[in-house]
Amino acid sequence: MKPVIAIYPGSFDPLTNGHLDLIQRGAKIFDELVVAILRNSDKVPLFTVDERLEMLRENCSQWSNVRVESFSGLLVDYAHERNAQAVLRGIRAVSDYEYELQMAWMNRKLDSGLETVFMMPAGAYSYLSSRLAREIASLGGPLTGLVPPSVEVRLRERLGVKATAGK
Ligand code: PNS
Repeated sequence: MKPVIAIYPGSFDPLTNGHLDLIQRGAKIFDELVVAILRNSDKVPLFTVDERLEMLRENCSQWSNVRVESFSGLLVDYAHERNAQAVLRGIRAVSDYEYELQMAWMNRKLDSGLETVFMMPAGAYSYLSSRLAREIASLGGPLTGLVPPSVEVRLRERLGVKATAGK
């Protein structure tokens, strides 16, 4: 049977434990999972694409069927280049749903053969986002359990803020 390949696209600025939870779940159900960082985003990132690639690769080496890449242009074109049949996206709460549904419909309009698969991360990550992790780091708050240790080190270095003593 043909292997089922899925793309898990995103900004990953930075990688959080919620992303890793989803990668672990995706690695279980797809034969191959390509985690793909968007290069041509309108957002001004905190970390360069190369730094984000490094953070993801450092933390995904335990899954032999997961690979990490970057892409630019349309997701459907990239998925086609990689022979992927599916796009994996996480839904944490109802508030994610509208944005995710709009993207999924648009991707279906662009390529009706590409399926979007939504998965839920563990409940512990239902309120976690890269934006909140950046904000907590910028204010010296605790990041334990929110991002992998190597990402915490980079976040504190990049923002030049040490964790507040006692936390
Ligand atoms: O983590 P994010 O920032 O929510 O990820 C958004 C992403 C990368 C999935 C989305 O912006 C994307 O797929 N961009 C590629 C350009 C594209 O294909 N746009 C049309 C699809 S709706």
